[in-house]
Amino acid sequence: MKYAEIEWNNGTPRSTQFDDVYFSTDNGIEETRHVFLQQNELPQRWAEAERFVIAETGFGTGLNFLVTMQSWLESAPPDARLHYISIENQPVSPGDIARLAGQWQELRTCVDDLLQVYPPPVPGMHLLELAGGRIRLHLIFDDIEVALEQINYKVDAWYLDGFAPSRNPSMWSERVFELIGRNTVTGGSFATYTASGQVRRGMTQAGFVVQKTDGFATKRDMLKGFIFEQRCYAVEKPWFTVPAFTVAAKHAIIVGAGLAGLTAAWALSRRGWDITLIDRHASVAEEASGNPAGLLMPRLTQDVTADARFYTNAYLYAIRCLDGLQADAEQPFWFKCGNVLVDSSGRLRSILQSHCYPDNFVRYTDAGLTEAVTGVELNHAALMFVDAGWVDVKRLCRQLAQACGQRLRYLQANVTDLVRVKGHWQVVSDKSDPVAAADCVVVTNGAMANHIPVLEWLPIRAVRGQLTLVEQTDLSRNIKCGISAERYITPPWQGKHVIGASYQREGSSAELSASDQQENLNAINRLIPPGFVQSELTGRVSWRAVSDDRVPVVGCVPDRAAFEQQYRDLQHGRPSRLYPAGAYLPGLYTSNAHGSRGLASCFISGEIVASLICTEPVPVEKDILDHVNPARFVIRKLKRSRC
Ligand SMILES: Cc1cc2nc3c(=O)[nH]c(=O)nc-3n(C[C@H](O)[C@H](O)[C@H](O)COP(=O)(O)OP(=O)(O)OC[C@H]3O[C@@H](n4cnc5c(N)ncnc54)[C@H](O)[C@@H]3O)c2cc1C
Ligand SMILES: C[S@@+](CC[C@H](N)C(=O)[O-])C[C@H]1O[C@@H](n2cnc3c(N)ncnc32)[C@H](O)[C@@H]1O
Repeated sequence: MKYAEIEWNNGTPRSTQFDDVYFSTDNGIEETRHVFLQQNELPQRWAEAERFVIAETGFGTGLNFLVTMQSWLESAPPDARLHYISIENQPVSPGDIARLAGQWQELRTCVDDLLQVYPPPVPGMHLLELAGGRIRLHLIFDDIEVALEQINYKVDAWYLDGFAPSRNPSMWSERVFELIGRNTVTGGSFATYTASGQVRRGMTQAGFVVQKTDGFATKRDMLKGFIFEQRCYAVEKPWFTVPAFTVAAKHAIIVGAGLAGLTAAWALSRRGWDITLIDRHASVAEEASGNPAGLLMPRLTQDVTADARFYTNAYLYAIRCLDGLQADAEQPFWFKCGNVLVDSSGRLRSILQSHCYPDNFVRYTDAGLTEAVTGVELNHAALMFVDAGWVDVKRLCRQLAQACGQRLRYLQANVTDLVRVKGHWQVVSDKSDPVAAADCVVVTNGAMANHIPVLEWLPIRAVRGQLTLVEQTDLSRNIKCGISAERYITPPWQGKHVIGASYQREGSSAELSASDQQENLNAINRLIPPGFVQSELTGRVSWRAVSDDRVPVVGCVPDRAAFEQQYRDLQHGRPSRLYPAGAYLPGLYTSNAHGSRGLASCFISGEIVASLICTEPVPVEKDILDHVNPARFVIRKLKRSRC
């Protein structure tokens, strides 16, 4: 994606492509207040709200968002959350957004907050948290129709703000109106600066009661409307529709105190939930998440798959979380030095060429220039992920526990079963008595996932991995960033590097293995010159949790027996609208199978789980939510079955 080309005339930005202005030449702030806030009856409608969802077509400079943010912070209840979804296919550069603050001093703080988290122009949904979490901006960089197809929640108020319909027809198509109608709550509203007859007809057709009203400044009229009663729409994959469960108290039990459990705990504690965190060890992060170092990397592929989109956006979200957590921490655990991924075959170059990723996300470095980037001779071209880095995973987990504060209670127990009794989940340990009970349980027990009976069918296995610690050498002390190929090495920290990691599907020994260590050293010695040699075994063994399709398993846990009954004839290909919504186990969730990329995937997964629990807009697109849904394994099996 490229930044939009903008010309500024007397404080008004104009798109050179559409030859139209981003906001009124009379007074942009007052236009936003009149058209979008007043005609949607804001802030009155959010005065009592616990949560409010606004969606906008065309984020542009962010002016509508910033004015709404200012109003929300002044007038909404302090513990309420605004979800602001905005869609944009030509992001405006941070430099152009910053010009708004020069023009309107009253917006300066909001502009600064936005720029702190504003993502690089990479397609997909970016979850940006502002004002200490009171505002969640779901910024979707994509074409309007594609993005609207992927929205998975209902909106209270719409701001329709494409360029003029005559110049920007894609923003005002029949399909766009239809999708807006579908994604609106009963009583939900819209407002737009235009009074175009085509928009009036389209929005009426989509189910809105539409009305003309006074426009702003020189514009005589504008449109507004609301949905009196929402229609029923068929759902494409009813088995992935997760129902909303009500809970009596904001208390959840989380089983497993690794990165997946702690990111879920953090996400829930920030929503005012109390957490009982249970692990079989006496303290957090004793297994995979106890590693002294891991590299944070996205996963790029030639085709734009749901998997690649999930990891790209998860990676960017993880960076924002790590930046925030590190800023509040006393000890360093996030080393934002950049990571290179070696391109020995040229495959990565072709991926990069086909995607046009921006320079502030990833750069290609030719073989002759990699030494300047990495600090050592590499002899290979490489991708440089500029904002990436390495993480002391154990310290990160401790920091997450600390960030949950008093809301987190830790309990040591080896969980053997989860039993539903009188509408609650009882957590049973090997000491047999229930150790805790709650309406809501999140299972994040990594490689042991299917040792708990309600999850025993999940195709998740343990894959052994061994890290090696080596002393720095005169040459290796120059390494400036993480370097990754078939193995990875971190820059030196306190005189040592971490080399990771072996990958053994069948390995079950917790002892360090000499041959694994040698393989780690050989792989790095083939890549860079220091020539590491060491005889004594120094490192760490732990187990990744890996699913059959190598995709994380995140979401509500299906009632497998009910699924097999409801969808038993799925292989016959009957229309999906003939099937009921999926049966899920009330209040039971999981975040698991983070494989070798948990640093990227755990933060967004914690947010997915917390959003599902609290019935909030989920921070990933609908197809990505389906892609990670635990029910996918049951559905695939039923589709393949021959009976
Ligand atoms: C060698 C190695 C190198 C890696 N390198 C990287 C890297 O460079 N970058 C990256 O992004 N990722 C890397 N990973 C992956 C990353 O470490 C994991 O994805 C992440 O730590 C997974 O966290 P988790 O919470 O799911 O699992 P874990 O950290 O394993 O946590 C699961 C927890 O559940 C508890 N538990 C299990 N069963 C029970 C039970 N019955 N009762 C109570 N508690 C239970 C366990 O005690 C454990 O604390 C690596 C993994 C390994 C093994
Ligand atoms: C009038 S401007 C939006 C102004 C914006 N709300 C603000 O506060 O600055 C219209 C925006 O719609 C975007 N846009 C145009 N066509 C689009 C499409 N097909 N999909 C997504 N966004 C589109 C443009 O890039 C532009 O930023």
